[in-house]
Amino acid sequence: MNDQAAHSGRLVGSASTGLRGIIQVPGDKSMSHRALLFGAMAEGETKITGLLEGEDVLRMATAVEALGAKVRRTGDGSWRVEGGPWHSADAPLDCGNSGTAARLLMGAVAGMAIEARFTGDRSLSSRPMRRVLAPLEAMGARLVDGDSDRLPLTVKGGSLNGISYRNEAASAQIKSAILLAGLHAQGEVEVIEPRPSRDHSENMLRSFGCDVESMDRHGERFIRLGERRHLKASDVEIAGDPSSAAFPLVAALITPNSEVTVRNVLLNPLRTGLFATLEEMGADIVVANRRVRDGEWVGDVTARTSRLKSVEVPAQRAPSMIDEYPILGIAAAFAHGRSIMHGLAELRVKESDRLAAIVAGLTACGVAARSEEDSLVVEGQGTAPAGGCDVTTHGDHRLAMSFLVMGQASGAPVTVDEAEMIATSFPGFADLMHSLGARIEAGA
Ligand code: S3P
Repeated sequence: MNDQAAHSGRLVGSASTGLRGIIQVPGDKSMSHRALLFGAMAEGETKITGLLEGEDVLRMATAVEALGAKVRRTGDGSWRVEGGPWHSADAPLDCGNSGTAARLLMGAVAGMAIEARFTGDRSLSSRPMRRVLAPLEAMGARLVDGDSDRLPLTVKGGSLNGISYRNEAASAQIKSAILLAGLHAQGEVEVIEPRPSRDHSENMLRSFGCDVESMDRHGERFIRLGERRHLKASDVEIAGDPSSAAFPLVAALITPNSEVTVRNVLLNPLRTGLFATLEEMGADIVVANRRVRDGEWVGDVTARTSRLKSVEVPAQRAPSMIDEYPILGIAAAFAHGRSIMHGLAELRVKESDRLAAIVAGLTACGVAARSEEDSLVVEGQGTAPAGGCDVTTHGDHRLAMSFLVMGQASGAPVTVDEAEMIATSFPGFADLMHSLGARIEAGA
């Protein structure tokens, strides 16, 4: 089967005899969005290598072009972006499935004297936007559609004031929208994070020449824009997405006789909560060749078949692995004992209600799992779960990949629906897994 089959909707993951190989995964999604967007806002031409060419990021490329940037693909993962001047978009900006595209673009538009209408697919249209719109409105942006919380909606930018905002949700999208709007605001712009969220915007804004200060005080992080808020083009090299690397690595841990290395993985400390958690579970997972590239840690990560034990994951760690709970739920299903993961309220507003969907999928596969308020509890048996189930992914790419990984080591095959959504973040997923020896086939 080639990756075409991933477009057929249903895929089946079946027990494989061992996964082996050295691979690379596509570029980091968060950095890819930001490289295109910051490049589009900057003076001069930004060269990007390692860009994730997934549907979410391509939506961002199309959107910034519609707003005035020049975007050119020069090779596999190699792109050039020439900054603005920005103007109102003639047609709605269709952000597809991508919350990051929608929310970061809203922030960028808010700071300019332009307006843009935002639309998205079924999933994105049901996700909350007020969390971004509220601080942007407090800064002086206008929402043409009243106090709407959902797409479609229209943002009208203008002259903005500063803001000091507490980011209780630990959302990097909210923080980034405020910082981007703040580039054009008068006065102090500050975001306070009781639990720090991923800091790619801060890091990349700095490499685009902008003053951004991050300070830890009394257990909280303070992020402030300085005087210099003008972006100048900067080349960006993007390493592999740790959220994508998680799938083949966990597959190797749970599948007998496996050893998989993912080279060149982004290891920003605010993204590596899953790796720390897997180590606590007794996983044989090793990072080699750790190095700094473009201000970000990267390394090669190897995982070998492991006997996993249960784990309790504190709420404080959630932001550093917020997209990894579906695949951690799978690892926990193979581990011995009861795993508990705390502080997962945000999972309810991802591409699907992930807390509910993980519980439903695991239960269908014969694993006892439940949610208790904002926690996920998984009763691992220490042996392969039954599998033999049909998992509803609610159009959520990470659920689809997680349960296909589960099928690699379950008693009977695991089928997922809407597998075409995998292309939003991990084009080539099925082909790459095949290259390791995984059995993923088109379903009936
Ligand atoms: C992202 C932030 C996270 C994450 C998403 C990407 C980003 O969302 O789940 O996949 O690139 O800023 P939240 O900001 O909603 O936590």
